[in-house]
Amino acid sequence: MSAETDFIWWKHGVLCEIWPRSYYDSNGDGSGDIQGIIQKLDYLAELGIDGIWLGPVNKSPMVDSGYDVADYRSIDPLYGTMADFEQLLAEAHKRNIHIIMDMVVNHTSDQHAWFKESRLSRDNPKRDWYIWHDRKRGRPPSNWKAAMGGGVWQWDNATKQYYLHSFFKEQPDLNWRNPAVRQEIYATMRFWLDKGVDGFRCDVLNYFLKDDQLRDNPTSLSAGIFNGFQKHLYSRSQPGMEEILRQMRAVLDGYKDRMMVGEVFVAQDGPAMAAAFMGDGDLCHLSFEFSLLFTKWDAARFKEMINGWFAVLSAKGWPCNVLSNHDQPRAVTRWAAGADTQKRAKVMAALLLTLRGTPFLYYGEEIGMPDSPIKRGDVMDTVGKMYWPIVKGRDAERSPMQWNAGPQAGFSSVKPWLPLNADYSEINVAAQEKDPLSVLNFYRRLIALRREKPALQRGGYEQVPSDKNILAYRRTYHNEEILVILNFAGERKVQAIDSSKRWKVLLGTQRSSESAIDKDGLAVYPYEALILEEDK
Ligand code: BGC
Repeated sequence: MSAETDFIWWKHGVLCEIWPRSYYDSNGDGSGDIQGIIQKLDYLAELGIDGIWLGPVNKSPMVDSGYDVADYRSIDPLYGTMADFEQLLAEAHKRNIHIIMDMVVNHTSDQHAWFKESRLSRDNPKRDWYIWHDRKRGRPPSNWKAAMGGGVWQWDNATKQYYLHSFFKEQPDLNWRNPAVRQEIYATMRFWLDKGVDGFRCDVLNYFLKDDQLRDNPTSLSAGIFNGFQKHLYSRSQPGMEEILRQMRAVLDGYKDRMMVGEVFVAQDGPAMAAAFMGDGDLCHLSFEFSLLFTKWDAARFKEMINGWFAVLSAKGWPCNVLSNHDQPRAVTRWAAGADTQKRAKVMAALLLTLRGTPFLYYGEEIGMPDSPIKRGDVMDTVGKMYWPIVKGRDAERSPMQWNAGPQAGFSSVKPWLPLNADYSEINVAAQEKDPLSVLNFYRRLIALRREKPALQRGGYEQVPSDKNILAYRRTYHNEEILVILNFAGERKVQAIDSSKRWKVLLGTQRSSESAIDKDGLAVYPYEALILEEDK
């Protein structure tokens, strides 16, 4: 098999995160569902994606929008039935679209049968499936702060002990030091793999292990409010994770072509931690690294972040790149609110789809869909309910997909579970399909180009000297050379290019394949994204 034809879907393909409740409502209850996603598979196939990361769909009381699972082997009725899920797998596979599920196993819901048993008595057989501790000198056993605010220890009066929760108190953490817990989770992975699921996005992997001596975390003002002003030295990212990752990997390796992508959640641990979770390509297949997502709109900062991320990868480690997800404001809202939104959206698209590594789109990103501002009365995310107005929660980036300019943006026949963005009559799939210069059509062309060019899929990456407002890099594979030039500024800038070579335009926001390229220095248009190839 030649290297060019050896297509590994999770490595060379393009993936897209779908928030199931917001994609398409097939049954008129205001919430998106699995049948709705099935109805949109042709759209996704046309976009050119190779896989879907499906947000959590297991049975859940929805304290954390499904990241609080009450039964790992079920589908929540809000989204449909197990038969619907199996149909989604079959229909997606027919179109060469892979499905990866969210695996949320740092914690369960407090409504999970295991926790209900665990809290019954100190000698219950499931007691040790969670992390229970006595009071220490009349106080909680450690000073650790939860990611959703407050301390991690919740007092349970029935058995007079605390249990640990890294997120909400309704999300008790599983005890990953207990082999019985591990075996049950691995069996659950097999349950889904046997159905044909192609892999898992593993939620907050670096939270699984905590210090067994429960040492206090040091206070750190620079760690900021979201880390509870402490450095999570003992409450997260403890040694021993490699063994767990190897065991999970062994489960996946028992099947053909399956994968896992780890979420390594804490910014303070930086890219090195995300890289460590991939080992030498033998632990997680991919892991998310969020420094690009947290970067400001500044070409020089992007250069630094990309270099930092790529530098820590092991020889077989493979980057995966993400600009938006369900936990952060969308990229166009962060980087392009106000003026020139669609132009900047195309620069982001070109970056994500020409960078070395697996790109993960977030649904709606391909139409430049912005956040939908939320009012107090519409808040659904518990984070927003608890901390309004200081923190408004994550609803804005989870708003319904904008399919057309008709009622409810073509998302539903009734009022959707979250408010629609006011601008859906302009920003929607139907309108953009008709416009050859739309963001959607640019994404489609970029994805098609990536599929066609081995240098973009799997080639080397090297930054090219440029103006501070320009990010320029070469992607090379054998004798194929592609040059990407991205102007982050709303002004013309000059980019020097190798004048010993002839260049042709592969794709650009302001030029066509006929445009001549001046070898002595290219006058790059404001917010231009340009992809050139050496013309041999
Ligand atoms: C998910 C969040 C969730 C948290 C707890 C995160 O990383 O992406 O949406 O609230 O894990 O499960």
